[in-house]
Amino acid sequence: MRLVLAYLVSIAMGATLLWLAAGKAEAVAPSPETGADIASRWCADCHVVSSSGAGIERAPSFPSLSTTRSPDQISAALKVHAQPMRGFTLSSREMQDVTAYISSLKEEQAQ
Ligand code: HEC
Repeated sequence: MRLVLAYLVSIAMGATLLWLAAGKAEAVAPSPETGADIASRWCADCHVVSSSGAGIERAPSFPSLSTTRSPDQISAALKVHAQPMRGFTLSSREMQDVTAYISSLKEEQAQ
């Protein structure tokens, strides 16, 4: 009886761990769609933020950054640049989303 109970408990614990791991992976995957939203809201005052040319060209455009910078370089630049920017801060999650978005423009650039 004890053995059966221990067996059931270990299955339940394993399932819980799997569930936690799956939830976590989902929560961490960066979303280019959310990044696009953040970019058009917070970045378009200074950057051209999309391949269609939306935004203002006072700073390197995101389509050009997508081809000249790696995702690591973009997120490193964001940590120093976008963190204390005019009245708002980006969470690390939002930085990942924006980085994923900028990097995704590379495919459109290649066409
Ligand atoms: C007030 C104007 C302004 C806003 C708003 C702004 N930027 Fe910038 N950004 C600049 C300027 C100017 C530069 C170039 C000089 C520098 O690197 O600091 C720059 C540089 C960058 C770079 C680095 C480019 C490189 O050379 O590697 C990235 C990445 C970047 N911006 C992303 C963003 C993102 C993402 C947002 C929105 C969350 C944003 N910027 C909002 C003005 C702005």
